[in-house]
Amino acid sequence: MTIPDIQRKKQEGRKITLLTAYDYPSGRLIDEAGVDIILIGDSLAMTVLGYESTVPITMDEMVHHAKAVKRGVKYGLIVGDMPFMTYNIGEKETVRNAGKFIKEGGCGAVKIEGGIEMAAIVKTLVKAGIPVLGHIGLTPQTATQLGGFKVQGKDAKSAQRLIDSALALEKAGCFAVILECVPDKLAKLITEKLEIPTIGIGAGVYCDGQALVTNDMIGLFDRFTPKFVKKYADLWPLLLNAFKRYKDEVEGGKFPTEEHSFTMNDSEFIKIKIKRRAK
Ligand code: KIV
Repeated sequence: MTIPDIQRKKQEGRKITLLTAYDYPSGRLIDEAGVDIILIGDSLAMTVLGYESTVPITMDEMVHHAKAVKRGVKYGLIVGDMPFMTYNIGEKETVRNAGKFIKEGGCGAVKIEGGIEMAAIVKTLVKAGIPVLGHIGLTPQTATQLGGFKVQGKDAKSAQRLIDSALALEKAGCFAVILECVPDKLAKLITEKLEIPTIGIGAGVYCDGQALVTNDMIGLFDRFTPKFVKKYADLWPLLLNAFKRYKDEVEGGKFPTEEHSFTMNDSEFIKIKIKRRAK
């Protein structure tokens, strides 16, 4: 998938799909399923690395995971999610960090969180040849400023700010914009106003595409499940059961059986025994 391929989908009224991937198997599986955009989301800080929030993850950790995903992906557009304090710290440093996702991580674009206030940064990155996916609404890196993990744009004033932000990001050169946790009517309005695609996560059905955090939708994150998540699989109890059965079977002498063991020719085995006796 290329950026024009993604944008053509909006023009043709075909829905865009986005899932997060964090390693080689998730990258491969999501790619094989034909998902359009594969995001190395900084959600990996919580879902894979066990941090309390997305804030502590570093550029190096993100690039390490991007490289693994890249090894499994042939089709989807890979997007690297810029971690907190790696893109609002001066032009040079921002371009250098985003460049790491492209040069080292094998990504085709980067994502940054924030609205109007990020327009200048988007322009800088696009000018440097780095495509940018915007992200407005609930922006987890600054969730405390927003009053926690809450739906955004519920009143006219904050809704207008989101509309202005979406337009500013489009003007600055974003190729698409993620709308996270905004009322569906507002997402519809923004989607109609923008030429670039909107990709919703908790933003209703009217967006040009949909996104989910993979470990939420496969039931592999134990701490909480947001209302907008549909669980397409429930892997946590399935895996726990597999690990418990393994432990029980080893302890009870039921594993391994002959099926999982290697045999040796008896005549060869006798030779060892004879040799040992001769010594
Ligand atoms: O980090 C992430 O997984 C994200 C999604 C919520 C889009 O930014």
